[in-house]
Amino acid sequence: MTTTIEPAPIEIDPQVIQDDGSSFADFTDELNSFTTSITGSISKYPFENGRRYHAFKSGSYPLPNDELEAERMNVVHHMLKKALGDKLFLAPHRNFHKVLDVGTGTGIWAIEMGDAFPQAEILGNDLSPIQPSWVPPNVRFEVDDFESQWAFSTPFDLVFLRTLCFSVADWPKLVEQVYSNVRPGGWVEFQDLDLQYYSEDGSFNESSATAQWLKILLDSSRNAGRDPCPGPKIEGWVRQAGFQNVVHQKYKLPIGPWAKDKRQKDIGLFNLVQALDGLEGFSMRLFTNVLNWRPEEVEIMCAKVRAELKSKSTHAMYDLHVVYAQKPE
Ligand SMILES: C[S@@+](CC[C@H](N)C(=O)[O-])C[C@H]1O[C@@H](n2cnc3c(N)ncnc32)[C@H](O)[C@@H]1O
Repeated sequence: MTTTIEPAPIEIDPQVIQDDGSSFADFTDELNSFTTSITGSISKYPFENGRRYHAFKSGSYPLPNDELEAERMNVVHHMLKKALGDKLFLAPHRNFHKVLDVGTGTGIWAIEMGDAFPQAEILGNDLSPIQPSWVPPNVRFEVDDFESQWAFSTPFDLVFLRTLCFSVADWPKLVEQVYSNVRPGGWVEFQDLDLQYYSEDGSFNESSATAQWLKILLDSSRNAGRDPCPGPKIEGWVRQAGFQNVVHQKYKLPIGPWAKDKRQKDIGLFNLVQALDGLEGFSMRLFTNVLNWRPEEVEIMCAKVRAELKSKSTHAMYDLHVVYAQKPE
């Protein structure tokens, strides 16, 4: 005798069934509204003392993300390119398929890379979705926190990190994450600053308003757990992570067009423009939140520094450090 066992009826929770007869349609509408709400929350930018700041992981980065800061970042891009002989990067590799720009800012580097390497996919990430939407077809941007665990499915041929001073809480951890996400034989390149101003002719006065402002700025960033001068230390972190063929080069960035050499003069002009535009943005959040200054006090100090920076008699500068290195095959 055979016994037929009837399958138990599948119990369907009536709440799971679509009630509008659209159960076989796709999720386009839901995805769109989810994306809109996510996009809404990451661009619900807080304003403080007249400046706009990032909303995703709010409070973790002290500089604004508004138009003035975007213009400043673009001026810095042109300055750094000029300092490097009109090059976007110095690492020797050229046959890219996948490139990552960590903390892309306005995305200007990623966009120029996309034009220069049309065969490569360029991905830029940042806390702020302030990048343009009209970009080369091989360039993409994502909102992400580069200090969280990275979850890329394939490794990169080049990972690029530029001017992340003020941004990073744990540099060795960041460099290790970079190492894990570069393909064997691939490259990393850091272009970062040592923001300590100095002069070679003694004209940078250590008791000037600029020197005082800079000390307060660098100290408050350190107090907030973000190294404002990572440049000289990057080579050590890169070696420690296991990279090889490490090259470390240092470039002087004059502040103001006082140098004789035409290229250095141009770099100095870009640098002065970005410093004058950036002063308030560098200082406002750190000085008011970390040091409890009043916004008017910050503005008064910035006005004094602005006047000094424009003076022709001070020949101040600071250093750009470029470190590139290869992951062993
Ligand atoms: C000074 S800007 C440099 C932008 C760009 N790398 C460049 O050189 O033009 C630093 C950028 O890092 C981003 N940033 C800071 N902390 C971040 C984090 N934890 N995750 C992602 N982006 C971050 C900021 O939003 C800002 O756009």
